[in-house]
Amino acid sequence: MSTPSARFSRITGTGSFLPPQRVTNAELAEQLARDGIETSDDWIVERTGIRARHFAAPEMASSDLAVQAARHALEAAGRKPEEIDLIIVATSTPDMVFPSTACIVQRKLGAFGGAAFDVQAVCSGFVYGLAVADSMIRTGLASKALVIGSEVFSRILDFKDRTTCVLFGDGAGAVVLEASDQPGVLASELHADGRHVEILCTPGTVSGGKVLGDPLLKMDGQAVFKLAVGVLESAARAVLAKAGRSDADIDWLIPHQANIRIMQGTARKLKMPADKLVVTVDEHGNTSAASIPLALDVAVRKGQVKRGDTVMLEGVGGGFTWGAVLLDF
Ligand code: ACO
Repeated sequence: MSTPSARFSRITGTGSFLPPQRVTNAELAEQLARDGIETSDDWIVERTGIRARHFAAPEMASSDLAVQAARHALEAAGRKPEEIDLIIVATSTPDMVFPSTACIVQRKLGAFGGAAFDVQAVCSGFVYGLAVADSMIRTGLASKALVIGSEVFSRILDFKDRTTCVLFGDGAGAVVLEASDQPGVLASELHADGRHVEILCTPGTVSGGKVLGDPLLKMDGQAVFKLAVGVLESAARAVLAKAGRSDADIDWLIPHQANIRIMQGTARKLKMPADKLVVTVDEHGNTSAASIPLALDVAVRKGQVKRGDTVMLEGVGGGFTWGAVLLDF
């Protein structure tokens, strides 16, 4: 009797999309100055590493960005939408209260019949979505998945709060994840600590046909900074131990693109040389759930991340949530 071969998941294509409007720090500073809010290119670059971000036009929803990224990922994987049997969209800026943005993406792509749902883990959303898709593929619940991170954070920014509005941007990134007899995804770690809900939140809600409470993003930047540095190191160590690998095995570190100082600190703790850290925060800002798949796609298309490379993806964000996925690309 032959033993059934092990089932793993592997990324077969990546894609991304940025809305065309690119806003530099200087342009944003000029716009904020009209409302009496002071900031500067120097301050933003020094504290965050961000030089520009993209903002979606008012008529563009998260699903529109997601569909563009998904099409590029499908093309790279050589797959047609109708072959996809699972769509997971990680987003905190969905098109509607319901149905999920994933169902709207499914309709726009013409990929009907498989499962489709959203994951809400803020900036950790893509790592959460990838780990869930990997589990579903390994257990036979799906075979060909689209995992997408897509955000229009510009819609929930308070442009009168200079401590937050300079940090975020809009965009989408996607991967096609397929069943494979070779890993692929080597190990995942997902965590949350709900005691820190208030340090990063958008507390408004919809009730009785109205928005109740404050629908704009609030953040205690220093509290987020301290927590992020600690959990990014512990998640990386845990996932390496699970996979039986060491720091030295990582070819590319792709952390959530929130702040260059957090990212460089994490790379140093993992003894990674600076040129093995994928950085897109300078051009994208923080695109929340979209930041990791966007950075992965940029690195793949630049020829940095190649087939067979070992890649560490790390997310951290509101909740407080964090997680890591180690994979052979
Ligand atoms: N322009 C000019 N000055 C500013 C701005 C701005 N945009 N924002 C704040 N300042 C001022 C403050 O008012 C303060 O002035 P004061 O000293 O006169 O009071 C001064 O700059 C220093 O402010 P801090 O808040 O202490 O600055 P800090 O060095 O902590 O940097 C930052 C702030 C960039 C938000 C940092 O705390 C950070 O990156 N935190 C991590 C948060 C993060 O990345 N969040 C993203 C979402 S969460 C996630 O994705 C993990």
